[in-house]
Amino acid sequence: MADELWVGTSWKMTKTITQGRAWAREVAAVPVPDGVTAFVLPPHTALAAVRGCVPPGHRLLVGAQDAHWSAENEWTGEVSVQQVADAGADLVEVGHSERRLGLGEDEDVVARKVRAVVDFGLVPLLCVGEPAAVRQAGAHVDHVAAQVTSALALLEREEVYDVLVAYEPVWAIGPKGAPAEPEDVAPVIAAIREAVGRSAEGASALGVLYGGSVTRDNATAMVSGAGVDGLFVGRAGWTARSFLDIVSMVGRHAGDR
Ligand code: PGA
Repeated sequence: MADELWVGTSWKMTKTITQGRAWAREVAAVPVPDGVTAFVLPPHTALAAVRGCVPPGHRLLVGAQDAHWSAENEWTGEVSVQQVADAGADLVEVGHSERRLGLGEDEDVVARKVRAVVDFGLVPLLCVGEPAAVRQAGAHVDHVAAQVTSALALLEREEVYDVLVAYEPVWAIGPKGAPAEPEDVAPVIAAIREAVGRSAEGASALGVLYGGSVTRDNATAMVSGAGVDGLFVGRAGWTARSFLDIVSMVGRHAGDR
């Protein structure tokens, strides 16, 4: 298990720059508890503005929800890792299921993006997770382990220590999702740790997080009962108050470990 616990939110396709600043000022006014690192992934449009609201030394990192794998110029509409770094990103989410399933991002693209993020010295937040049908067929552990293996395929062993992994079962995400229970999550987290070790000669990831319908109601149970190194929150992170509450729940767990 990682020494540090992580708790972050992706705003997905929400918030104007003004709304993003208001959230960031409220969150950055409160210190992140010892033993915890927090992060927020605004849309690209608000990244620099949000970064500008976080005082130096505050343990709220800022990241991007995606970045292109190429360093070449000819990719109309895309944003490179270098550009999100320039806007203030410390980390970059890669391979969210909304991109894999809704935008056709395949394993090869995910692996290239992980490689590009590491090349630029930022932390990849690799998302993996099975659709409902795969879970129902009992194939979820193998499915997720295979996603991890292929996503890390272009990294050297030492680079794997800088990768965050988020297990996000597709059936648990979003307003139509059914929240997972810690016992649904724990075996997959263990399998992710094994898959990381197998693909990188015994190396471990920076952290293995859980995401999917995390709220104030289930955050403590999930962080204490699923063997995770933290939580990756969607909707429940979109208001500053709710995000701060979840951060402090994770902080209390960090203090108890
Ligand atoms: P949710 O989103 O917490 O709103 O279910 C989680 C995610 O997609 O990361």
